[in-house]
Amino acid sequence: MSTPHRQLRRIHALDDFEPAARRLLPRPIFGYVYGAAETGASQRDNRNAFDEIGFLPRVLNNVARRTQKRCLFGREWSSPFGVAPMGVSALTAYRGDVVLAESAARAGIPMIMSGSSLTPMEDVARAAPESWFQAYLPPTLERIEALVDRVARASFGTLVVTVDSAVRGNVENYRRAGFTRAC
Ligand SMILES: Cc1cc2nc3c(=O)[nH]c(=O)nc-3n(C[C@H](O)[C@H](O)[C@H](O)COP(=O)(O)O)c2cc1C
Repeated sequence: MSTPHRQLRRIHALDDFEPAARRLLPRPIFGYVYGAAETGASQRDNRNAFDEIGFLPRVLNNVARRTQKRCLFGREWSSPFGVAPMGVSALTAYRGDVVLAESAARAGIPMIMSGSSLTPMEDVARAAPESWFQAYLPPTLERIEALVDRVARASFGTLVVTVDSAVRGNVENYRRAGFTRAC
């Protein structure tokens, strides 16, 4: 195994990132990433649903040719996982969207750039041309067409449309943490 980056030496599992991020990030920004709406009931339900999924060990099978590779939208990815769109990632790390996109490209998995990114979409597409783009659709057809044209011109091959934000979640935790943004 290669030597991990100094900051990753104490990270042994995904859950270890949370206390590390809490120490590193300004409180409002940590609050934004960490926050779930209201009492966190939906977040807990989602977590519980994942916890019910288990692995079924099948022993004494030939595992010499095992693979996690999957085909999706006409190309092969090295794993059936990807990076979900996360807004304002440039606040959590310097040019965070580009970092995520380049890392995903190195790992051979899809990365979805958020439509509420602070980085121009063209920069992400240039850095990692296989990235996907997520859009919150604007209210008029004219603006939707302009957005889709720009996404296509930037050479994104896959457009993801988020449909569950017609009514925004009431994330009280943002207000507790002092996180606000203009849009
Ligand atoms: C900090 C943060 C920012 C997010 N920003 C976006 C966004 O800009 N667009 C979007 O469609 N979903 C956004 N999401 C939702 C995620 O893409 C994802 O759907 C959600 O977190 C559920 O997946 P998970 O269980 O893997 O966290 C965001 C989630 C988090 C935690």
